[in-house]
Amino acid sequence: MPDKTLKNKSWPPRWLTDVNEKELKNSKGLEIAQFIDAMCIQTKDTVAGHAGQPIVLRDWQKDLLNHIFAVRNDGLLKHRTALVGMARKNGKSALSSGIALWGLFLGENGSEIYSCAADKDQAKIVFNDAKKMIEAEPEMVEYAKIYRDAIEIPSTNSVYRVLSSEAYTKEGLSPTLVIMDELHALPNRELFDVMQLGMGARREPLLLAITTAGVKSDTTGQDSIAYSLYQYGQKVARQEIKDDSFLWLGGKHLLIRTIVLVILGNLLILLLVT
Ligand SMILES: Nc1ncnc2c1ncn2[C@@H]1O[C@H](COP(=O)(O)OP(=O)(O)OP(=O)(O)O)[C@@H](O)[C@H]1O
Ligand SMILES: [Mg+2]
Repeated sequence: MPDKTLKNKSWPPRWLTDVNEKELKNSKGLEIAQFIDAMCIQTKDTVAGHAGQPIVLRDWQKDLLNHIFAVRNDGLLKHRTALVGMARKNGKSALSSGIALWGLFLGENGSEIYSCAADKDQAKIVFNDAKKMIEAEPEMVEYAKIYRDAIEIPSTNSVYRVLSSEAYTKEGLSPTLVIMDELHALPNRELFDVMQLGMGARREPLLLAITTAGVKSDTTGQDSIAYSLYQYGQKVARQEIKDDSFLWLGGKHLLIRTIVLVILGNLLILLLVT
């Protein structure tokens, strides 16, 4: 029977910034896909399978990893920021847990990985699934010290922490990998800016932001970070702006959702001012 689960209507994406053949050939995507297939399990019962069964990555997920983790001519990761806009319920968060674990176990010594989102419960979705994946795999559990909001690997001095936009320390963060889930729900752009600034001292850091819509304004009344990046990404994809370090990937649904949200937002403002 053909596999209809986790099919992705957003793939191939409507917008995708340019990644050339050589950068794809040298990508770390394959290594990450192999790590996830070998080490990561499904954490709950879904239409895709049962809790405890291994994650079997779909071809589109491998393709996505290849793009995100494309490698430049100098051997370093091409992207510092990757914005992935996709429809709901196709395994974005579970894939992110796998990516975070790859960074934690196979990243450079002293890696700092962060899972963050608008609030702690949201941020914990990716983090707690990653915890369960470690606990189910003796080869990972052996090396890890698991706390409520952090996982440490003492032998490499690497750490994976969960943060929310309500509670984080601005100082002292030096992320190698940031997973920002549900970007459109961030109340303002502070967390995003702090993480990007913190990445500055790293050789090949990556901030992976995931969104299902481009909400126009945030709680400060400014254009939201999701909407700003969405517009920026479109300009990079159309080659109106040159920024090789920015990956933007978005499907058709995202355009429709964003247009609907922008119209509703403007209608609301009109109603409020009249
Ligand atoms: N190949 C796979 N990749 C990712 N998840 C898988 C895969 N196979 C099965 N799953 C399971 O499918 C579920 C996917 O749900 P997940 O919450 O990751 O989707 P999502 O896209 O983040 O949803 P939402 O848009 O609601 O946030 C997870 O429980 C995961 O264990
Ligand atoms: Mg999710």
